[in-house]
Amino acid sequence: MRTQVAIIGAGPAGLTLAHLLHLQGVESVVLEARDRAYVESRVRAGVLEQPTVDLLTEVGLGDRLAREGLEHHGTSLLFRRRRHRIDFTDLTGGKAITVYGQQEVVKDLIAARTAAGLPLHFGVGDVRLEDLEGDRPRVRYRDAAGEQVLEADIVAGCDGFHGVSRPAVPPGVLTVHERQYPFAWLGILARTHPSSEELVYASSDRGFALHSMRTPEVTRQYLQVPVDADPADWPDDRIWAELQTRFADDDGFALETGEIFDKGVTPMRGFVAEPLRHGRLFLVGDAAHIVPPTGAKGMNLAIADARVLSRAIGAFAATGTTEHLDAYSDVCLARVWRVQHFSWWMTTMLHRPADQDLYDRRLQLSQLDYVTSSHAAATTLAENYVGLPHPTPWSWSP
Ligand code: APR
Ligand code: PHB
Repeated sequence: MRTQVAIIGAGPAGLTLAHLLHLQGVESVVLEARDRAYVESRVRAGVLEQPTVDLLTEVGLGDRLAREGLEHHGTSLLFRRRRHRIDFTDLTGGKAITVYGQQEVVKDLIAARTAAGLPLHFGVGDVRLEDLEGDRPRVRYRDAAGEQVLEADIVAGCDGFHGVSRPAVPPGVLTVHERQYPFAWLGILARTHPSSEELVYASSDRGFALHSMRTPEVTRQYLQVPVDADPADWPDDRIWAELQTRFADDDGFALETGEIFDKGVTPMRGFVAEPLRHGRLFLVGDAAHIVPPTGAKGMNLAIADARVLSRAIGAFAATGTTEHLDAYSDVCLARVWRVQHFSWWMTTMLHRPADQDLYDRRLQLSQLDYVTSSHAAATTLAENYVGLPHPTPWSWSP
């Protein structure tokens, strides 16, 4: 079997890349380890930046997003029992974010791929990458029919943090930068109306909490917990009591409760493996970098990488130029590090490490006071949160 681009992984990165390549007339085959139902139901983040919404809309994936996505024009930071609103739209000249679950984006991308009758193989096993340094790299894998070999011009490693692509790069090529945070998030999905129209980020004396949502009937909420927290130690009553305490304010914030139907603990880490390339292998999204979830950036960053790579491959396929492929890693790393910094900044500003002293707490509160009172500081938060523009020479529209 032969194709132009072998794409490993059908998450937001791999599926977006496949879609953008198709629009340029470039063939690809997507290989996914899990089954379709698993990929479509996996609970992940749910905030789309403005550039992500604009891209999905431009490339024909915006219909359900426009109907079901919840557009938010601001968010609140809660500390010292007071809520302070950051008005994204005012501060960024009209931009907003859209609440729409990652699995909904994935469903829309899979639907487009299957409607076009293009290759997307679920449940493949034992994926191995070979000859990445040559100009005919190969991917071996197993499916129901047996052992398969896929030859390509380019391999896109879109298989997430635990995939096989990054480990396929020989030792010594990648430089890894990592930051482990001394806390985690306990996340829940609950059947109840959101208690606030917009997201609320709370930095309470008992630690961080986040009030988010998926639909007008389903809320998504998070609590800062110790890294080794076991969801079994968090019965529903304890979760609601802790959320109530952390969201309590002097304006009478009333938290609505309901049936919790999903519960899980997410570790918090920053991670970058650079460069995002080895020979004909290009790393995209979580395969190369992870951010702590406080800035809601993971999926947006994966889609930004896919956009840049799709254009570089499009140029290569059309004219044979490698100029844009050669620039891929540097172009993407500029955004990756901006987003690493923003996510680190939001995380350290809002969470309380167990050993935090009063000096550090005072610094946090001073920072929060500044960000919610200075136009310049609030603009910094807002423009990063709604998403800095994708690099212009790489924009989708000609
Ligand atoms: N072979 C084929 N597919 C694989 C393999 C493998 N060896 N290993 C992993 N995969 C698949 C996973 O099952 C998953 O569907 O690759 C896909 C990777 O998708 P994501 O983990 O969603 O990564 P990405 O597309 O980069 O999107 C990043 O996901 O983790 C969140 O917060 C993160 O929102 C961000 C987004
Ligand atoms: C979510 O809704 O899952 C969410 C929202 C905002 C974040 C992180 C996660 O910063």
